[in-house]
Amino acid sequence: MSRLRLAVLASGRGSNLQSIIEACESGVLDARVVAVLSDKEEAKALEKASLYGIPAYWVNPRRHGKKEDYEKELLDIIRKYDVDYVLLAGYMKVLSSFFIENADVPILNIHPSLLPSFQGLNAHRQALDYGVRYSGCTVHFVDSGVDTGPIIMQAVVPVEQDDDEESLAARILKEEHVIYVKVIRLLCEGRIKCEGRKVKIIGEGDNG
Ligand code: GRF
Repeated sequence: MSRLRLAVLASGRGSNLQSIIEACESGVLDARVVAVLSDKEEAKALEKASLYGIPAYWVNPRRHGKKEDYEKELLDIIRKYDVDYVLLAGYMKVLSSFFIENADVPILNIHPSLLPSFQGLNAHRQALDYGVRYSGCTVHFVDSGVDTGPIIMQAVVPVEQDDDEESLAARILKEEHVIYVKVIRLLCEGRIKCEGRKVKIIGEGDNG
C-alpha cells in the first residue's frame, strides 16, 4: 500500500494533529498529513501545521451564507490533495451530509467519551455530571449524525472522585493520542473493514 495521504480538519489547539504528524515524521505511520484546514483563523492547529511545512488553510465560514457553500470550499481544497482519508481532530463544526457524500473518502473523528455515551459538546462535563466511573475516547467513522458513526477503537480511563473537567480531559487526551495513531496505522496496513455499523480489524480475532 502506498503512503496514505491525510487531510486534517481542526478548530483548536491541535494536540491530536501534532501527535499524528509526529507519528508520520518518525515513521511510526506510513502516512503524510498533506493539508490542514480550520474554520478558526486563530486555531493553534494551523500554526502547528505550518511549523511542519504542511499547507494550512483558514476557511472562513462567515464568507458564505449557506453551510453547503462553506463546505464546498473545504472540499475544493481537499480535492487538490488527492487524499485517502479526512480526519477530524477537534473540528467543532458538524459536517453536513453534503460534505460527507461529496468527500469521496472516509472521514474519521475522535471524541472524548465512550460513545454512544455523551455525544456532542462538553463530553467531559456530561460524564462528570452523570457520575460514571469510567470514561474514555472513541475513534469512529463519521456519518450524518453527531458522533454516531461506526466505532473503530475506544480507550477507557477511570474517573476519579476529585476529577474536574480539566483533570479528566487531560487523562483522556493522552489516550486519544494513542488510539488515533493506532487507528491510522491500521488504515495504513489496510486492516480496517466496515460492515454496516460493525468495524472489523483484520487479524484481531473476534474482538476485531
Ligand atoms: C479532543 O479532546 C478531541 O477528542 C475533541 O476535541 C479535542 C481536540 O483537542 N474532538 P486537540 O485540538 O486535538 O488538542
